[in-house]
Amino acid sequence: MNDKINQGQLFDKQLSKEIKELFYHVDEDPILNKKRIFFDNAGGSLRLKKASDMFKKMDELPDCPEHSNHTAKWLLDVQEKAYEDIRTIFNAKSGSIATSLTASMVIFEMNRAIIESVPGTNVVTTALEHPSAYDSMVSYAKRTGKEVRVARTNPVTGGVDVSEITKLVDKDTCLLSFIYASNISGAVLDVENIIKECRKIKPDLYIVVDSVQHTPHGALDLEKTPVDGINFAPYKFFGTRGFGIGFMSERAARLPHNKLIAKPEEEWELGSPAPAQFASVSEIINYVCWIGEKFTDSKSRRELYVEGMNRINLHERALMYRMLNGSDKAEGLRNIKGVKVYLDYEDLSTRDFIMAVGFDNIESTQAVKEYEKRGVITFERVASSLYSSRMLNSFGIEGVVRVSPLHCHDVNDIDEFLKVTKEISQL
Ligand SMILES: Cc1ncc(COP(=O)(O)O)c(C=O)c1O
Repeated sequence: MNDKINQGQLFDKQLSKEIKELFYHVDEDPILNKKRIFFDNAGGSLRLKKASDMFKKMDELPDCPEHSNHTAKWLLDVQEKAYEDIRTIFNAKSGSIATSLTASMVIFEMNRAIIESVPGTNVVTTALEHPSAYDSMVSYAKRTGKEVRVARTNPVTGGVDVSEITKLVDKDTCLLSFIYASNISGAVLDVENIIKECRKIKPDLYIVVDSVQHTPHGALDLEKTPVDGINFAPYKFFGTRGFGIGFMSERAARLPHNKLIAKPEEEWELGSPAPAQFASVSEIINYVCWIGEKFTDSKSRRELYVEGMNRINLHERALMYRMLNGSDKAEGLRNIKGVKVYLDYEDLSTRDFIMAVGFDNIESTQAVKEYEKRGVITFERVASSLYSSRMLNSFGIEGVVRVSPLHCHDVNDIDEFLKVTKEISQL
């Protein structure tokens, strides 16, 4: 394993401090008025102040962006710019953008449109899926009489191997829907190769990717990974709740779907848009580009965005390395007696910063409470929950403490977390 790649690269101290200050409540719980470390970002991320403030500012305006007064038109411009920004995130040069209240609603509609209209006798997905992708596949396959094929997970990598997916795809596959990065193990799937290899089997295969957990940790690129549908949720990506965003390829966008009859065939938006949500997303892109500007002179928004996301990824990898291996300040998770890191794959370049941790002395649900008592917020992912049972059962794991920091954290947060972890392991 290349240790240099594994070690990532921290932001310098000044930038790390500046970044922290751009987020709300990184170090405290404003309700309890107490210090805390928030390591449950996979459940909803810390908020970028500008994204949250912009939402409020825009939402104060009553104007309807589709009307003709000055401020209404201005809101429409704000929204149009955000659509461009969303295309920048995906690197989407064609196709349609589809938004809804949640990312789950977006993927249900995308999968429905494809399964209902594209010929084929089977659909392929994986055991690692969030229920939104999995249940939409099962529900619409059942309604249309298609077989559901489910690829196995790999307990070493915490992901799904390319070969496990390709062996299920054939000329009669109507849709392949798989997750970009796991919300339990953090494993990032080899998306490029999955697409390439599956389209060798069926060149016009429809593919949908759930990138809700990966989008906050790395750049997406539809030029490299051309799919028919992909989604993310701003509330897991430094932004606000109540919005899910998807991209549909040209051919997928034209499939029959819910829409006003007079609107163009490829239109997926239905009903009054919420300019505040769009404006808030643009603030997220501005922020990532601002990080990019620290590292490149490029003036291209896409290049700045990619650079920013790559730097976020490197900083998180460096924090992950420290969390696993420790430093002279604190023992790492891999070395604390009585602590286990599940699905702890060696190559950190294939992992987003989501960690599955277990204790010998207490159950994960109890451990989460012990963390909270000590000012650290984590979350239990247990096999009895509908949100985690399939994934955990596929790995033969009963429950884990999910630890999911964000790039606005720094080494001190990691060290403090490790000290608390050691304390809990000795209860
Ligand atoms: C991988 C993944 N996909 C989809 C979703 C659903 O997102 P939403 O809550 O916006 O419906 C989640 C939420 O946790 C997720 O982790």
